[in-house]
Amino acid sequence: MPIARERSGSPTYFQAVGYRVMSRTFTIAPGGRCAGTVDIPGDKSISHRAIMLGSIAEGITKVSGFLEGEDSLATLAAFRAMGVRIERPGPGRVTVHGVGMRGLRAPAAPLDLGNSGTSMRLLAGLLSAQPFDCELHGDASLTRRPMRRVTTPLAEMGACIETAEKGTPPLRIRGGKHLQGIHYRMPVASAQVKSALLLAGLYAEGETSVSEPAPTRDHTERMLAALGCHARRYNDTVCLQGGARLRGTYIEVPADISSAAFFMVGAAISPGSELLLPRIGINPTRIGVLSILRLMGADITLTNERMLGGEPVADLRIRGGQLHGIDIPRELVALAIDEFPALFIAAACAEGRTVLSGAEELRVKESDRIQVMADGLRALGVEASPTADGMIIDGGRPYGGATIDSHGDHRIAMSFAIAGLRANSAIRIRDCDNVDTSFPGFVRTACAAGIAITQA
Ligand code: S3P
Repeated sequence: MPIARERSGSPTYFQAVGYRVMSRTFTIAPGGRCAGTVDIPGDKSISHRAIMLGSIAEGITKVSGFLEGEDSLATLAAFRAMGVRIERPGPGRVTVHGVGMRGLRAPAAPLDLGNSGTSMRLLAGLLSAQPFDCELHGDASLTRRPMRRVTTPLAEMGACIETAEKGTPPLRIRGGKHLQGIHYRMPVASAQVKSALLLAGLYAEGETSVSEPAPTRDHTERMLAALGCHARRYNDTVCLQGGARLRGTYIEVPADISSAAFFMVGAAISPGSELLLPRIGINPTRIGVLSILRLMGADITLTNERMLGGEPVADLRIRGGQLHGIDIPRELVALAIDEFPALFIAAACAEGRTVLSGAEELRVKESDRIQVMADGLRALGVEASPTADGMIIDGGRPYGGATIDSHGDHRIAMSFAIAGLRANSAIRIRDCDNVDTSFPGFVRTACAAGIAITQA
């Protein structure tokens, strides 16, 4: 069969015509340590929201530090396709010419959101309130992910959204619906569900309120406030009134703590490391990884704490040492939900047992992150037992190299790249193209930090 190079996971032209699709392979030479100062790209969650909210605001929103990764660029392309003028005047800089709450236009074709669950779920909320019909598509991974968590409460508000049979994409959204505010108690702690409902709630009659079983990232609420719409919070519930108008503003996007996590772990597991990560977002709803690594004995200090675009940031200094296993407190799970692949590597290097439970959500991320991480860790020789809602890892013993399948999941690929720092022989990681969804330039950054990684 001929070989083509294409973005992993997409049901593409090349696959359709019978090409075998090749994706990049990373090879990491064993050992090393992390040193120096490393710049981390902009926050993915905040970058998505800057495009979405800037587009429906009145006037101009200027964004700096925007993540030029495939996921946030998929959101940007979607809004351009709905008639929003969006300029990119320089690296990390975006100018959104907002069209106001009622200014979006019907896209000429289905919106392709690639690998991005955040784009699809938040857009489901925003687009269910528009006067036009539209379709949302994704790649092979996104097309397996559950969407009823958003379509069910949106239907309660009056939206009309069709999914595929198993509640998965594509989504067909019927326009021209009159939405009514609801109170919704989320069965799972999900910022994507909360945000989808708040975005629909902007257009709904009356009040929309969402209660969460555990705190989830609050970037939507913070950014709405920066654009002039103040959602109120009472304990576990956030509510807003329909009919608000948003005003364009200036948004500085902090560096993404989820991307920083790979280097936090990399430095923490390799004795002799000392790494400085500037301008990292330390929103309290995102710092689970910091708390968990500290509980495991990591030496992490925060300096230069300040506010940037309505979000707290700090410079993080991490020194390498010996970690120890812990029972991960349940209340930290939602606050570190994207960082568990990296944290499992920390656990593999930590003395003793680490136990994660209450994290069944990991099974429906870009891959089944419990199974895929357990398979990869075992291939290295680490004692890792997957459970229905987490993992048990007996760490601290030397481990070897292996060829790992990332299943096209960006965070799996980057986590095993970091594992190379403590391996006895080379680690090869297959199917790494999707690293570009959240961390463009990862290989360059990893090399700069001291990781001996090559790609082919
Ligand atoms: C995100 C919320 C989280 C997270 C995802 C980004 C967001 O998803 O895993 O990477 O930007 O709102 P859930 O809402 O499914 O927990």
